Amino acid sequence: MRKVWPLRLKKWLANMCGIVGYTGKDEALPFLIDGLMTLEYRGYDSAGVALLGEKGKIEQIKCKGRVAALAELCKKFDTTPTTGIAHTRWATHGEPSDTNAHPHADCFGTLSVVHNGIIENYQELRAELEAAGHNFKSTTDTEVIAHLVEENLKREAKGDLLLALQLATSRMVGSWAIAVIKVDAPHELYVARSGSPLVLATTDTGAYAASDVTALAGITSHVINLEDGQLAHLSYDATRAKGEQARIEVFESDGALVKKPDTFDIDWDASAATMGGYPDFMAKEIAEQPEAIRRLLKDRLTKEGIRLDELNISPKEIAAIDRIYIVACGTSYHVGLIARTLIETWAKIPVVVEQASEFNYEEVLVTQHTLCVIITQSGETADTLASARKMHAAGAKVLAITNVIGSSAAREADAVVYVQAGPEVSVASTKAYTAQMVASVLLALFLAEKTGMMGPREVENKFEELQRVPDLIEEVLTRAWQDEAATPAFTDAQSALFLGRSFGATTAAEGALKLKEISYLHAEAYPAGEMKHGPIALIDNGFPVVVVCPDDHVRYKTISNIEEVKARGATVITLATDNDQKIAQLSDYLLLVPPAPEYYTPIIGVVHLQMLARFVALARGCDIDKPRNLAKSVTVE
Ligand code: F6R
Repeated sequence: MRKVWPLRLKKWLANMCGIVGYTGKDEALPFLIDGLMTLEYRGYDSAGVALLGEKGKIEQIKCKGRVAALAELCKKFDTTPTTGIAHTRWATHGEPSDTNAHPHADCFGTLSVVHNGIIENYQELRAELEAAGHNFKSTTDTEVIAHLVEENLKREAKGDLLLALQLATSRMVGSWAIAVIKVDAPHELYVARSGSPLVLATTDTGAYAASDVTALAGITSHVINLEDGQLAHLSYDATRAKGEQARIEVFESDGALVKKPDTFDIDWDASAATMGGYPDFMAKEIAEQPEAIRRLLKDRLTKEGIRLDELNISPKEIAAIDRIYIVACGTSYHVGLIARTLIETWAKIPVVVEQASEFNYEEVLVTQHTLCVIITQSGETADTLASARKMHAAGAKVLAITNVIGSSAAREADAVVYVQAGPEVSVASTKAYTAQMVASVLLALFLAEKTGMMGPREVENKFEELQRVPDLIEEVLTRAWQDEAATPAFTDAQSALFLGRSFGATTAAEGALKLKEISYLHAEAYPAGEMKHGPIALIDNGFPVVVVCPDDHVRYKTISNIEEVKARGATVITLATDNDQKIAQLSDYLLLVPPAPEYYTPIIGVVHLQMLARFVALARGCDIDKPRNLAKSVTVE
């Protein structure tokens, strides 16, 4: 029965930000600062730390700016305490400032709170607390949590911090991952979660809390996932038996002890989250693409065809699929556009691709045979998660293609394909983009094979061609000089146009997104054939136009568009296949790719546009890994 999903959608709001907490035998500060540095992808307009000393005093150090500025500031303090919480912020309520930076304290500085999320009813709570005599210092929503806990401690909770936190969360509307410390509990940390991610772990020497497992890299591989509505008490007591000294107890929202918290293991390569000699993470992540793809392709072809066991879907269910919705945001949305063409061409299943932020407010046609595929590097993008929940509620099966193990997307989906690209730290997505495209190729081949639309021989041929892609990317990486040479075309420009047709239109869109996000140069992508319906008016002498025109079925058509812009004075930078004399004559700069099947060219060609964006951003003096206003994980709708 066809069901139309109405415009009813629960709001899944959360602000970005990253939090970490520690209590244990060692000094807390090194972990807190390292953890914040790792979580800086979640936001970096201000940062702060609260340290709890034996002497029953909380020291709060916070500032506007990056974690590095906080680390500098911390050097001025005697920072030996072994319990602390810390925060890196992406402002939603209250401008970025020293005062609005977390942690936030109660009226008397007896407790300190960090928070990732949004308290939607904070104004109402603040008015109530102010009327009761509480004194607020910041304009944030978070500060109400500190005062609400303080108020509860005085009243119903009678000094019991867990109960006070439990009562506070029962009054709050919105989303949160919270960590709290209190002066009279020098070896304890209290946390709560609803809607924003929070993971916990213990080692022999301490108990840890973090927004994301990456902050625990090199510390442990066994992690507790705090579930929505749960709270936890983390403690360290040197007098307990060995192995028991650090302890985590998890509670439901009603205070009942959770006997078996949800746990998972992570297969770490700790070095993956360091720069390893590269000038920036983006450079490193661009270079890692061949390896990431090889890893993903390992053992994917068996005698039975493409192995995609993760899909957990029967041949009968595949045969019955009537439509696929692919939902994603930003760069991951571009992967969806490529995936659509592959699935429709090879498996002949109709595919709709939607940007999650739009999809969530549209009516969608879902039957019990509809498959929803969400693509998300971080697995935490609020809009994408909301789409998955909407599709689930409408009865569709949800498959997540994601990079982050144990992410919300992975946990909520019915099936997960991990793209195994390793931690992606730079805000601009590169290796996750190409790995997600490769995962989409595998999905398309798998569906084509299982629906009988592609014979085993052809599947095998296409897989073998796919296995050559990492080598071809390696070849493109050696041609970075071509991208560097093209940089002068952009340094004084106000804007740039990216054109392409078919797969090339998506590569152009991704190239434009990369350029604008890291170089702050306006860039617009347009299907090349559409250009004459408007954007051609932009072209003037020296206007940079990047044309994606590899040797594919639309090459001749795209060459006409190159001629059109050239005739109007544009500086033309063309992504073309080796030895294309015609294009060489027409272009001012060439970004050359080795010959490859046209359905794999988007995976290879985009590497040039990633490098081009990086060189232009470097020439314009921009911060490559942390572009202004952006955060890696967009957990706000
Ligand atoms: C651009 C970029 C963003 C993300 C988007 C979705 O380089 O990284 O456009 O692609 O925010 O993020 P994920 O894939 O984590 O859902």
